[in-house]
Amino acid sequence: MSLRSKPVKGEKSVFSTTVRKCGVLAATNCNLGGVNRDNPSVKNIVILISGAGSNMAAIVQAAHQQRWSERLGIQISAVISNKAQASGLAWLQSCSEFADIQTEVLEHTQFASREDFDQALLKRIDVHAPHLVVLAGFMRILSPAFVAHYAGRLINIHPSLLPAFTGLNTHQRAIDAGCKFAGATVHQVTPELDHGHILAQAVVPVLAQDTAADLAARVLTQEHLIYPKAVLDFFKLEEASRQAM
Ligand code: GRF
Repeated sequence: MSLRSKPVKGEKSVFSTTVRKCGVLAATNCNLGGVNRDNPSVKNIVILISGAGSNMAAIVQAAHQQRWSERLGIQISAVISNKAQASGLAWLQSCSEFADIQTEVLEHTQFASREDFDQALLKRIDVHAPHLVVLAGFMRILSPAFVAHYAGRLINIHPSLLPAFTGLNTHQRAIDAGCKFAGATVHQVTPELDHGHILAQAVVPVLAQDTAADLAARVLTQEHLIYPKAVLDFFKLEEASRQAM
């Protein structure tokens, strides 16, 4: 299986680069609200997916290629899916160089309510003491308690230029509305769906003959560029504010 997004003319794909040894730091974590007790200088990331996980793969590969662990102490500790069949999990498990990243499944169908699932998920995530939780195609509406628990350290990517087109079917809706431009947004997660402080955006043209699939492929290529950068910027900004104090 390949996670390469469809090639889009004239645009660079993050999947075109050869992946080498991962080299993430190994550490035993415990839940201290984002602080790794064994090594406080290590900052853990947990990524949540539901499907193809191409954004997750882009972040994992950027972390590896840019040596986030060695240079900055940023470690991707786990990828958790609410669907056992998520192909992103299979891809990650097939990459021996990323063997240090734990893969986990927590099926939402096994829980009686959204709140029950979210509480179980929260417990799983917190085993990794995440500094940042990254939603990457995680197709679940999150309960207010879950969002509040990770306030300020929970981010998402949405395939539209927010605040336009929150929710689903964003590409068809952009085409139907006659938009000349579309794009993607990385944002902080708040209890309101697809709202929250905007961290990064990418813009692409909407071409005359575009189908929703054409536009989705063009936008996804940009998602793979802006999401890893936004994750890195999150840590850089945090470090800059720490030093300014
Ligand atoms: C992306 O378009 C993302 O913006 C949206 O769902 C899609 C997931 O793609 N939330 P992938 O699973 O990262 O390949």
